[in-house]
Amino acid sequence: MDLLFYGGSFIKNVELKKGIYWVGAIDWNLRDFHGYKTPNGTTYNAYLIVDEKIALLDTVKRPFKKELVDRIRNIVDPSDIDYLVVNHVEMDHSGSFADVTGLLKNAKIVSTKEGKEELFKHHGTDFEIDVVEDGDELSLGSKTLKFIKTPMLHWPDSMMTYVMEDKVIFTSDGFGQHYASSQRFDDEVNEKILYDAAGEYYSNILWLYSPLIKRLVSKILEMGIEIDIIAPDHGIIWRSDPMKIINWYSEWANGRAINKVVLAYDTMWGSTEKMAKAIAEGIMEAGLSVKLMRLKDTEYSYVIKELLDSKALLIGTPTLNNNMLPIMGGFLTYLKGLRPRGKIGGTFGSYGWGGGACNSAEEMLKDAGVNIVAQPLELKWVPTEEELKECHEFGKTFAKKALETI
Ligand code: FEO
Repeated sequence: MDLLFYGGSFIKNVELKKGIYWVGAIDWNLRDFHGYKTPNGTTYNAYLIVDEKIALLDTVKRPFKKELVDRIRNIVDPSDIDYLVVNHVEMDHSGSFADVTGLLKNAKIVSTKEGKEELFKHHGTDFEIDVVEDGDELSLGSKTLKFIKTPMLHWPDSMMTYVMEDKVIFTSDGFGQHYASSQRFDDEVNEKILYDAAGEYYSNILWLYSPLIKRLVSKILEMGIEIDIIAPDHGIIWRSDPMKIINWYSEWANGRAINKVVLAYDTMWGSTEKMAKAIAEGIMEAGLSVKLMRLKDTEYSYVIKELLDSKALLIGTPTLNNNMLPIMGGFLTYLKGLRPRGKIGGTFGSYGWGGGACNSAEEMLKDAGVNIVAQPLELKWVPTEEELKECHEFGKTFAKKALETI
C-alpha cells in the first residue's frame, strides 16, 4: 500500500532512497519552542530503514504518535522492527518513546551511554538499551549504520547515524529548521526561505555551540564520508546539494557577518525611540544597513536571527526605577544564553532624574560576550534638536567601528 489514510486525507509514503523512508509528523501549529517563536510550525522527522533487518530512527513528540505509527504501518508491521535507534532524547523526539516501544515488541533499543541515562530518567528503566560508541557500526543486511557521537548538539546524548552504502546521514537536531511544509526536500522549497529558516534555527538553538559545530564540520570533512542526503529531525531534508547547509553552518559558526547593525530598543514615552531613529540615520549615513527592532512588538528570537549575520548590536532603553526596562532585561538574558561571538555593541537611552539603564544593559551585554566599543549615550527627558544631532553622530561613529571589525 502506498497511500495512507490519515486525518481525512491520503498521504503518500516518502522515500529518501530505496528502503529509507520519512515517517515523521508535521506540527503545523507550533508557535513556541521553549521560548523560540516558530511562526512556521515544525516537523518531527523520524525515519524507517527497511532491509533484512528494520530500523526506526527516533520517534516524535507525544501528541503526534498516531501519525508516526500510521506512517510506519503503511510500510511495515511495527512488531517487525528490529532496532529503535535513539539519536536524541529531547521530548520532541522521544515523547512517544514509551508508546512506540510498546508496539515494537522485538526491537532492540540503541543509544549512546548518555542517551541511556537520559532515557531512563525520562521514561523509566523498564527496558534494555544497547549502548554504542563513536564509530560503532550495525549491519541491517545490505545497509550498515555507523554512529557518530555529537555531544551537546543538542544534548549530551546526541548522535548522528550514517547509512554507509546509501550515503545518507541522519543528523538529529543538526541542520534542521522549524518549518512545517507539505514539501519534504530542499529542491522543492525556495532557497531564501530555507536559508532564513535554517538561520533562525541555528541562531536560537545552536549558536551557543558554535565551537562544537566547527569541530563537527571538520570531523565530517576529515572522515571523508560521502554524503548524498542530510536528513535532520526537523524540517526539510537536504538532497539537492548537502554541502550547501554544511557551508552555511560553517559560515555561521565562524561568525561571518555583513555590514549591518541591529538596533534593539524599547521606549516609555517616545524619547528613546527618537534617539534610536536618529542613531539609525547616522548608521545609514556611514554606509551600513540597520535593523530597528522595538522589543514590545518583536519576538526575541527574531532579533537573534537578525543578529546572526550582523556585525553589531546597539541596545536602547530608558531608565525605569534606576534600571533598564524589564523587557530589555529579558532579551539580554536570552542573548547571554546564546553567547553570540564576534559582535561589537553599545547602549543608549533617555532618563528623567537619574539614569542607570545603560550601565545595567552594558554589563549584561558584556556578560553575553559582546565587545563594548562606545560610551553609553544617556540623555535627560526629551531629546532636543541638538541632542538628536549628537545621536546622529553617535550612530556614525559606532558604524565606523563596526566597519573596522572583520
Ligand atoms: Fe529537536 Fe533537541 O530537540
